[in-house]
Amino acid sequence: MTIKALLSDRVQTAMGAAGIPANCSPRIAGSSRPDFGDFQANGAMAAAKQLKTNPRELAQKILDNLDLQDIAEKVEIAGPGFINIHLDNGFLSRQLDKLPQCSKLNTQGAQTIVVDYSSPNLAKEMHVGHLRSTIIGDSIARVLEYLGHRVIRQNHMGDWGTQFGMLIAELEEHLGEGEKPELALQDLENFYQQAKRHFDESEAFADKARDYVVKLQSWDAHCLALWQKFIAISISHSEEIYNALNVTLSAADIKPESAYNDDLSQVVNDLVSSKIAIADQGAQVVFLEELADKNGNPSPVIVQKSGGGFLYATTDLAALRYRGQTLGADRILYFIDARQSLHMKQVFTVARKAGFVATDVSLEHHPFGTMMGSDGKPFKTRSGGTVKLADLLSEAVSRATQLIESKNPDLSAEEKSEVAQKVGIGAVKYADLSKTRTNDYIFNWETMLSFEGNTAPYLQYAYTRIRSIFRRADMDPDNLDGNIAVRDARERILALKLLQFEEVLDQVAADALPHLLCNYLYDLASAYMAFYEHCPVLKDDVGEAVRQSRLQLCKLTADTLAKGLDLLGIEVMEKM
Ligand code: ARG
Repeated sequence: MTIKALLSDRVQTAMGAAGIPANCSPRIAGSSRPDFGDFQANGAMAAAKQLKTNPRELAQKILDNLDLQDIAEKVEIAGPGFINIHLDNGFLSRQLDKLPQCSKLNTQGAQTIVVDYSSPNLAKEMHVGHLRSTIIGDSIARVLEYLGHRVIRQNHMGDWGTQFGMLIAELEEHLGEGEKPELALQDLENFYQQAKRHFDESEAFADKARDYVVKLQSWDAHCLALWQKFIAISISHSEEIYNALNVTLSAADIKPESAYNDDLSQVVNDLVSSKIAIADQGAQVVFLEELADKNGNPSPVIVQKSGGGFLYATTDLAALRYRGQTLGADRILYFIDARQSLHMKQVFTVARKAGFVATDVSLEHHPFGTMMGSDGKPFKTRSGGTVKLADLLSEAVSRATQLIESKNPDLSAEEKSEVAQKVGIGAVKYADLSKTRTNDYIFNWETMLSFEGNTAPYLQYAYTRIRSIFRRADMDPDNLDGNIAVRDARERILALKLLQFEEVLDQVAADALPHLLCNYLYDLASAYMAFYEHCPVLKDDVGEAVRQSRLQLCKLTADTLAKGLDLLGIEVMEKM
């Protein structure tokens, strides 16, 4: 249980005893200033308003009934009725002693949570536009899993649609010339451009491409075989990126658009028979009054084109029904660009109306902003093209290699390459994850690779510094003796931070905001640095009990940093 939850319980009980109705909450919050204590209970004011009584007197009544023995050293009323809680050092120490054992978090209240992320279109290679969904979604999936939820990752890859007619027609020509498919599709970006040029320039090729779309949709064996070759190679490109990015998506998580092909006509039939969709100029359309524009025109969602074809929205409706009904999701999370916000609103609204998901299932689109270049425009290559993710990641590693070379030339070649990989990839991921998700952000190599400030290298370095203490002392951090005893003010600040980890994770899980975890880790590392400067650990004049206690604070900090970074999909190392 988090300290906040514990205090909340206790104050709620006291409020009950003071005759305050149960609908009034204790409103526990961290204090804004140390002289206001560590936590505040701010519920007395709202309760007094409801009961039409004096808030300070009500706060006093709560206080008279409040049992924080062994938890708080001092509790006092301030201002109009705040209750300031100063935690007891002994309590903090005991909580810390228990910390490693509670790292396996509660499965009580565990939910089934579907997380839709990454989901690239397979017609092209993954580019920077896929980075945010992939890493933000992955970190939230990791956090939810760590908190004990059953997480079902869904990589809703775009493997279907008209462009595949053109792509398989192109592939057919390459193979006809005796080229191996792996070679032809080595550079998907080029291949796509080639096919597109071909399509634009040759009428015969364009006809064939269109013909192949139709054939593919009716499961023609030849077209299907070409398509499968294309898809398999495109997926293997994505898998290379997932590996390089240290992202947990595996082949088993791929549930591409084509997997829903057989459900699409049923989705439309159901919408038509429940009169949610109506025929409009030969197409089937849902008109949503709920999302009407400011002139009162309902928002149209086409679920079947006049030619019979289905759309992106139709597939998403089928996917939603599968996730709600077959997978039994309690929450369904989507990590997709903010530009698809209207699409998601439409899909959610139609699905709710049609009863495709139960009313108590939480449907959540977690949008994000765009990654910008230093010119404040969407990140592009020098010549204005889209940046391939593979190129971006290899540049990250090569920049990190130079950096490590200059900072620590004594590392072995093997160590250098491990460190460069972890630092380079970590820097790119952290720079993204540490920004408020919904904002655009400017991509900058210098700041993300800096050893100072809120960066991956800073945190990774903090971790290595703590680990080096144990090496210098020739001690096994898993074999420390005695209890933690918090005494010094800096130890106290560090202790409070360490004890906040679970609470931060709960918040990250609820709001799908990884930057909260980044900020926490940065504050933790800073609290540790202040502690380490003022509280000697290995110096000769430090008594054994104090040394052991401080070493445990070091170990807990290292473990929390490593776990926190791991939940962001960032690796640590022993030296850098
Ligand atoms: N493939 C889509 C794109 O690249 C993203 C899919 C997101 N997931 C979904 N269920 N619509 O834009």
